[in-house]
Amino acid sequence: MRVLVTGGAGYIGSMVCIELLNEGHELFIVDNFSNSDASAITKIMSITGKMVQYANVDITDRNALEVVFRTYSFDSVIHLAGKKSVTESIENPLQYYYDNLIGTVMLVQLMQQYGVHSIIFSSSATVYHPESICPIQEIAELKSSSPYGRTKLAIENFFRELCDAHPTFSAVLLRYFNPIGAHSSGEIGEKPLEVPNNLLPYLMDAVSGKRPPLEVFGNDYDTIDGSGIRDFIHVEDLAKGHIKALYYSMEHMGCESFNLGSGTGYSVLQLIETFATANKIEVPYNIGNRRPGDIAISFADITKAQQILGWQPLKNLTEMCQDAWRWQLKLLQEQRVEAQIVYPTKKTV
Ligand code: WQD
Repeated sequence: MRVLVTGGAGYIGSMVCIELLNEGHELFIVDNFSNSDASAITKIMSITGKMVQYANVDITDRNALEVVFRTYSFDSVIHLAGKKSVTESIENPLQYYYDNLIGTVMLVQLMQQYGVHSIIFSSSATVYHPESICPIQEIAELKSSSPYGRTKLAIENFFRELCDAHPTFSAVLLRYFNPIGAHSSGEIGEKPLEVPNNLLPYLMDAVSGKRPPLEVFGNDYDTIDGSGIRDFIHVEDLAKGHIKALYYSMEHMGCESFNLGSGTGYSVLQLIETFATANKIEVPYNIGNRRPGDIAISFADITKAQQILGWQPLKNLTEMCQDAWRWQLKLLQEQRVEAQIVYPTKKTV
């Protein structure tokens, strides 16, 4: 099959592209490189040994995106392009609604114009009500607590209504829990361009001394050790879930949502301990106050994806921590080399 991957140069997008190519599919990547860079495309090609075509296109640039649809015929779209910072969305809701929601509407307009009837959408566990009972099922109440989450929910509602109006359309909504880790080759992974908001990227910056010690946001929650509990899922398992969703979408019409998580909750302190043990390294951290807006416990019921998609996450928390750290060490080495190239040390004469 030939698949258009929006945001295909991003952390999750690049992993999805690797899995698609490994399965023998063709793909075309559009990415505006606002939170990624073209080096990911080179790495996708070197890891898979396959050629990849791409265009530096923002999905809100309808004319540029139409050139892609006019040039290639696609069987499906895997839609990962979008802004994803909760804190940034609170400061700049206008940009988030424009890029995420309007961008998706423009994308779907072109899909309809060019006869593409299948989309796999990158949704998020943040669409669930903050007090959802865990393990959270897909039928749980939907009520998000941030502009970012509300754009995801608005897009989900858009797809539900679109499928009601166009019964031959297929939309598969994948609700990510907490994706972490990196490709097992150690060649590609998350590359935050600013101070990381998420736990593991910040933890690794603290371990490597790039940033101050990790602050654990609260240890007074009603949990096993007082710190927050989350459902960490290896990004490779997450990517494989997209392939299963693609095959499902080719066989089914209508709108369907699936949780992609490990189905197990671990606390922040348990993750810190696992990371330290898995990589035989100290994690500098201190206990701070709760982060406003954080929920105590969130982990998924993944029965639906297991039974209907035939998807099964395979990697455990230790492997997630080892794969993440292997990539972080490679990234640090790359950045040291880049620094030497950009600012070569002065030769003493
Ligand atoms: C995880 C846990 C923090 C940083 C967010 C989005 C969600 C999804 C994943 C896109 C929490 C604690 C964190 C730190 C800490 N993104 N923490 N110190 O908040 O579960 O989910 O990212 O879809 O939509 O909401 O992820 O990694 O920020 O936090 O103690 O420096 O780690 O309190 O318990 P979160 P996170």
